Amino acid sequence: MGRLSPLLVAWCAIGSLVGTSAGGSYMVKTERLLTDPGLVRGESHLRRRLEGHTAGDEPTVLGGSLYWSGNFSVGASRDLRLLLDTGSADCVLNPGVYKPSDLARTYNGSREFSGGYEGVTRLGFGFEIINGTVETDVVSAGGLTFDAQAIGNISHFHYIDAPRYPYASFAAKRADGLIGFSPRGGSAFTPESPSWFFNLANHGLLSEKRFGVISGTSGNGLFTIGTLARRFINGSLYAAADSGEFGEFTVQGDLTVDGQIFAANQTLIMDYGESNIQPPVHLAERLFATLGWQTHTRLQNNLGTPVTTVLAYFDCDKPPTIGFSFPAQSQLKPGEKAKNFDISPAVWDVYRHRRDRTNCTSIIGGTNAYASVAGNAWILGQPFFAGHYVDFDISEEPHTVSFGDLIDPSMSGLTD
Ligand SMILES: *[C@@H]1O[C@H](CO)[C@@H](O)[C@H](O)[C@H]1NC(C)=O
Ligand SMILES: *[C@@H]1O[C@H](CO)[C@@H](O)[C@H](O)[C@H]1NC(C)=O
Ligand SMILES: *[C@@H]1O[C@H](CO)[C@@H](O)[C@H](O)[C@H]1NC(C)=O
Ligand SMILES: *[C@@H]1O[C@H](CO)[C@@H](O)[C@H](O)[C@H]1NC(C)=O
Ligand SMILES: *[C@@H]1O[C@H](CO)[C@@H](O)[C@H](O)[C@H]1NC(C)=O
Ligand SMILES: *[C@@H]1O[C@H](CO)[C@@H](O)[C@H](O)[C@H]1NC(C)=O
Ligand SMILES: *[C@@H]1O[C@H](CO)[C@@H](O)[C@H](O)[C@H]1NC(C)=O
Repeated sequence: MGRLSPLLVAWCAIGSLVGTSAGGSYMVKTERLLTDPGLVRGESHLRRRLEGHTAGDEPTVLGGSLYWSGNFSVGASRDLRLLLDTGSADCVLNPGVYKPSDLARTYNGSREFSGGYEGVTRLGFGFEIINGTVETDVVSAGGLTFDAQAIGNISHFHYIDAPRYPYASFAAKRADGLIGFSPRGGSAFTPESPSWFFNLANHGLLSEKRFGVISGTSGNGLFTIGTLARRFINGSLYAAADSGEFGEFTVQGDLTVDGQIFAANQTLIMDYGESNIQPPVHLAERLFATLGWQTHTRLQNNLGTPVTTVLAYFDCDKPPTIGFSFPAQSQLKPGEKAKNFDISPAVWDVYRHRRDRTNCTSIIGGTNAYASVAGNAWILGQPFFAGHYVDFDISEEPHTVSFGDLIDPSMSGLTD
């Protein structure tokens, strides 16, 4: 998730980060991929280009660390696997990855950056600080090119509770860096840089100012940019207004259990670059109590900072039926209908494929890490996206985030 600058203020209180952060970005990935090779599904090489290159799509793959990546060219480097994030704005490359092209230019601003990224462990909690230098250069994917994108050339990781380099995937071969799609507020550069998607949109390089996330439950998906790929959608899209709160794609939705509203009008930060789903602690506790799940509460993180995290365990054979209904009842216009979108039963376990079928770790885990800055907002991470089409449309104010069902929720057809 992007710039929750007050969050950085909160981090400063931690002690070690004072003065290091020019901005905040969060949501990057750093988990070693071999923990669960079963999750790294066959890769799709399917690729489509549309006439005029004002829209394009790229196949995406869900890594074993539960982050989605796609194939990008940055500067003179091709075939880069970048983690896709709707919760931050910058394109940042791992140490040694960035090779400048002839289009490389000096960034008109601070040449250095430092940003805090959250969500760096498999469980979805954990922080790291990355820093490095900023250039502008060409970035392409799916036939779409912007030639003056700010690029972060990472020089340094400072892990807090993630494995140290080189045992973290953010620095491992599987991923070469991260590309954010959020509004400018999610940039760690000074001045803040528009994300690649916003640059494409703002420079008239897209036929439509939208992108879509199409995530299968089997680990294959597509990122579609500049168009609505209706052929993948079964039925209608249900639109929620994006409040833009916290500098992120933020919508209201109703939390449902077994199809019934459990907690109405929840504030949800749409964060495809987060591995799990993070409600505020009080709601997580109420939810887990209702489900009768065993829970484990951590009162501090590895730094000793008082952050409450509530994990929960459930019988792997009995995933719950929990979802979100859009638009929230509180936002329904006369005559408008809402639709419930359940989290797929296939994606409930953080670790998946565990031998112990009686004990899975829930992909929903409570946290109060953002309470001081984002109140009761949730971080709605990638597990929710599975099986659904999520369209981010910035063509009009307010921006909208729309939800639909996929015709083939697994997207397994993509590997053909
Ligand atoms: C990545 O995209 C480039 C074009 O930008 C293409 O030539 C290459 O084959 C793609 N690589 C993979 C692994 O899909
Ligand atoms: C560089 O940034 C300054 C202010 O931050 C602006 O006035 C100037 O026009 C910019 N130059 C270019 C070439 O974008
Ligand atoms: C990144 O952080 C490290 C450790 O704090 C520091 O030594 C280095 O100078 C920083 N580099 C940049 C470009 O800010
Ligand atoms: C990227 O940063 C590294 C230091 O981490 C530096 O050695 C390298 O020259 C930089 N690359 C470019 C193209 O600026
Ligand atoms: C729903 O939540 C939003 C954001 O917190 C708030 O502004 C609005 O008043 C709430 N609506 C209702 C009906 O509670
Ligand atoms: C499930 O696993 C967690 C984490 O290893 C453990 O704390 C918990 O006690 C286990 N629960 C059961 C019922 O085995
Ligand atoms: C579309 O959704 C409807 C209602 O859920 C379902 O009955 C139908 O089978 C779906 N169609 C396809 C092609 O998946």
